[in-house]
Amino acid sequence: MTDRELVALAHAMLDRAYAPYSHFPVGAALLCSDGTVFTGCNVENAAYGQCLCAERTALVKAVSEGHTHDWETLAVISRGEDYCWPCGACRQMLYEFKPNLRILVARGDQSYQEVTLEQLMPHGFGPQQLNDV
Ligand code: THU
Repeated sequence: MTDRELVALAHAMLDRAYAPYSHFPVGAALLCSDGTVFTGCNVENAAYGQCLCAERTALVKAVSEGHTHDWETLAVISRGEDYCWPCGACRQMLYEFKPNLRILVARGDQSYQEVTLEQLMPHGFGPQQLNDV
């Protein structure tokens, strides 16, 4: 699976997004080391606070299928002209499992840039902090 193919899988999820309130579809695709890909889209709700981001949809699908610490790369995309940066809540949820996760942050035309989660969230709070007391 190439990076470009992973971004294309995330892009395909834009059509699955349930975003009647923000009208901002987001797609995600999470590649694991054995080649398994978990895709996700944002899922909104009339009670706005319950909206779920695309990245966390993919994350929950992976963890619930037993893929917790074998993640390689996450692609995130919207239809926008700007790169679709993961929100703070998603960064925190991802950090729990893979602080140095590769992330491909894409634009609507499927162009992308590569960053690591550590770059997006330096000095993050993770499970290791709980062992320090
Ligand atoms: N959204 C995501 O799916 N991922 C992000 O990292 C940023 C925001 C969604 C949530 C909401 O459904 C819509 O984009 C507008 O915020």
